[in-house]
Amino acid sequence: MSADFGLIGLAVMGQNLILNAADHGFTVCAYNRTQSKVDHFLANEAKGKSIIGATSIEDFISKLKRPRKVMLLVKAGAPVDALINKIVPLLEKGDIIIDGGNSHFPDSNRRYEELKKHGILFVGSGVSGGEEGARYGPSLMPGGSEEAWPHIKNIFQSISAKSDGEPCCEWVGPAGAGHYVKMVHNGIEYGDMQLICEAYDIMKRLGGFTDKEISEVFAKWNKGVLDSFLVEITRDILKFDDVDGKPLVEKIMDTAGQKGTGKWTAINALDLGMPVTLIGEAVFARCLSALKNERIRASKVLPGPEVPKDAVKDRQQFVDDLEQALYASKIISYAQGFMLIREAAATYGWKLNNPAIALMWRGGCIIRSVFLAQITKAYRQEPDLENLLFNKFFADAVTKAQSGWRKSIALATTYGIPTPAFSTALSFYDGYRSERLPANLLQAQRDYFGAHTFRVLPECASDNLPVDKDIHINWTGHGGNVSSSTYQA
Ligand code: 6PG
Repeated sequence: MSADFGLIGLAVMGQNLILNAADHGFTVCAYNRTQSKVDHFLANEAKGKSIIGATSIEDFISKLKRPRKVMLLVKAGAPVDALINKIVPLLEKGDIIIDGGNSHFPDSNRRYEELKKHGILFVGSGVSGGEEGARYGPSLMPGGSEEAWPHIKNIFQSISAKSDGEPCCEWVGPAGAGHYVKMVHNGIEYGDMQLICEAYDIMKRLGGFTDKEISEVFAKWNKGVLDSFLVEITRDILKFDDVDGKPLVEKIMDTAGQKGTGKWTAINALDLGMPVTLIGEAVFARCLSALKNERIRASKVLPGPEVPKDAVKDRQQFVDDLEQALYASKIISYAQGFMLIREAAATYGWKLNNPAIALMWRGGCIIRSVFLAQITKAYRQEPDLENLLFNKFFADAVTKAQSGWRKSIALATTYGIPTPAFSTALSFYDGYRSERLPANLLQAQRDYFGAHTFRVLPECASDNLPVDKDIHINWTGHGGNVSSSTYQA
């Protein structure tokens, strides 16, 4: 029997994707470096299904239909390169290697170029949704050699999640574009999680809510505009008790881990000069949480305001304001994420399909939500939309949410509850809608101390301040008249 598709790496994601593909009528060949894993899988979960095993890489390759489609689900980084190097000599021109791990997109760019030289088609695919998603329908974000797409489209779209009958899987773009979009997905995931954590902290510390009460609030929010996977699991986490009947979540060490994909997004945003502030703050919030011992020391010596018992006067209003704060901040976060994607497309010369990206994130993945249906709709109406905030639906939503958003942040700030993600979202919003920002003064400072030059506002141009020219002024009377070269971000 020859297989439609081969998968290397039988950890939890790999096994579940194989079972998913078999359920959709495909014959899959499974291989793992440790043979006992293959044997165990075939004798148990894969038993009676259209799944065959391989005893060596050579055996594995020989069992695949041409063009061979080999998916790798191994740890990102060096293991992917090591495996590619082993497989390439066994492949023929036109065969396809798909990397389904959380690889960094520059690595996928490089692999795409290197494999092209061998005539091998490379696909770097984002795979999101965890164990459950892999088994019953993940969000899949494939990019790379477009020639590979007709060969894998049917398999990918069959096994992916569906949203309103449409597969949450489309061709993303060339080279590392698939992994790029997955990276931004993960950055947004960090942002969504941080926003939810801030809302929980505010309810707990300001409102004095119990975990059960907060769970009920999230349950209610999950029926409205915030309906999403992350809100749903938060609802369940907060009502989950340990064996002693106390909420388990309160026993968990408050130091966040991270594998780096959110950090990559923030670094890339800095590289591309895009103000993706919410993801940046979400990464830094994890970093701050990790300084547990320092925070313990600081909590004893750095005073802040006490939270009075009546800090929250009207509980219902407080919860409603917070819902608006969460909603508006989330809109900002997605607007920033799509700004980054837009800039990446321009910088890397990729043609990226915004409505398809929103649809891919609509179901199956960790950030899946009702909200993404609106984003899909917005980009379908206007594929070249400059910013999500210019779409009427989102502009109206932010306008309506503004009062609650500001009140929530003001209250938290008054009583010393940190809201890095809520606050940065609002600052971005206020900055973005400011026709004039204080960067005029900043430019003057740069020119004053470093002769870095500035441009003049067209309406203020004069003989000594010509328009469209880099100008240096001798601010002190004793500085020189020579300007330094200007660095543009
Ligand atoms: C997904 C997730 C997943 C990610 C984890 C952990 O889409 O299924 O994004 O790919 O690796 O969520 O990420 P951190 O360890 O960095 O929090």
